[in-house]
Amino acid sequence: MSKNWISTPKVEGKASRQAHCDLPEGTYERELGKEGFFGPAAHMHHQHPPTGWTRFEGDLKPRAFDTSKFSEFGETPWQARTLMDNAHCKVRIWEMTSSMDQLVRNADGDELLFIHAGEGHLYCDYGHMEVSEGDYVMLPRSTMWRLESADPMRLLLIEATNGSYLLPEKGLLGPHAIFDPAMLESPHIDDMFREQQDETEWEVHIKRNGRITVMTYPFNPLDAVGWHGDLMPVRINWRDIRPLMSHRYHLPPSAHTTFVGNRFVVCTFVPRPFESDPGALKVPFFHNNDDYDEVIFYHQGEFFSRDNIHPGMLTLHPCGFTHGPHPKALQNAFEQKAPGTNEVAVMIDTRDALQVSEAAETVEWPGYVDSWKGA
Ligand SMILES: [Fe+2]
Repeated sequence: MSKNWISTPKVEGKASRQAHCDLPEGTYERELGKEGFFGPAAHMHHQHPPTGWTRFEGDLKPRAFDTSKFSEFGETPWQARTLMDNAHCKVRIWEMTSSMDQLVRNADGDELLFIHAGEGHLYCDYGHMEVSEGDYVMLPRSTMWRLESADPMRLLLIEATNGSYLLPEKGLLGPHAIFDPAMLESPHIDDMFREQQDETEWEVHIKRNGRITVMTYPFNPLDAVGWHGDLMPVRINWRDIRPLMSHRYHLPPSAHTTFVGNRFVVCTFVPRPFESDPGALKVPFFHNNDDYDEVIFYHQGEFFSRDNIHPGMLTLHPCGFTHGPHPKALQNAFEQKAPGTNEVAVMIDTRDALQVSEAAETVEWPGYVDSWKGA
């Protein structure tokens, strides 16, 4: 049912009528918005950048964590470092240093793997699939799986706790935009899958309510000879995503939604050209996304709107204050020298407040909150 918002469009004082375009001379635009860029919104034109704070005390500050500083992960993904979580979503980082010699099964929810580094082979109930850097692998809740790789693999794990992953509504774009669902790869019952089937002892490490149960079989339970249905793990690489852009309008981050969970979304920022219309904003607009906490994991490339961020870092911008481009990026708000961005990042926007773990705090960069100074 559509909502009857208490709302009517108005223009007050000196203002542009088109969001993110043709801002009054010398002003900084700030979007105040509900429902994560889908609800009523107002666009303020300020005389100062809204990130120009001098002090920020308390829990609500923007935070950054350098996950590349973690080492010595356990042998199963259930020993991954939890970075942050809430009742609907759990964000973890794990490095697999040698092939898993047990199977795992997440009974707490669908699991989305994002492969930050490395490549290998996924073996699961449904068969075998090669996986590599930049892949998302969505594993339906309680799928049995393991990874094999000669080299370390670093993974971001995003659990849809007690929920399922869906594809976003494509609306006006039609079903084949951004990526065609036909691009989703699924595992195969192939020779490599058949070759790993054996009669030796296998453990299955099951996670439920965050606790681990170990079940032992006298054979490899990945012993299917076939299957049919419309439930299966799927893989898609960020390189398969054909991002939306408009040469005349800076699209909101929601245009890059890749997967939808229960009370959170996963978006992917991939390289794209800058807007070319002289009046169109060319960097993210300042905004308070008042209904969502925003997390970004930086995968590769140059992060055009943030300084001092490198691959493997993760930022958290809780809802409740305005964020936006760093001062250096802001200088290019209406004039970009490069043809486009080359950043690749995974964004997780959650409707409910995220809890930061003690593990994440051990790799926190406390200076992040001050990194907008000079704006
Ligand atoms: Fe944001």
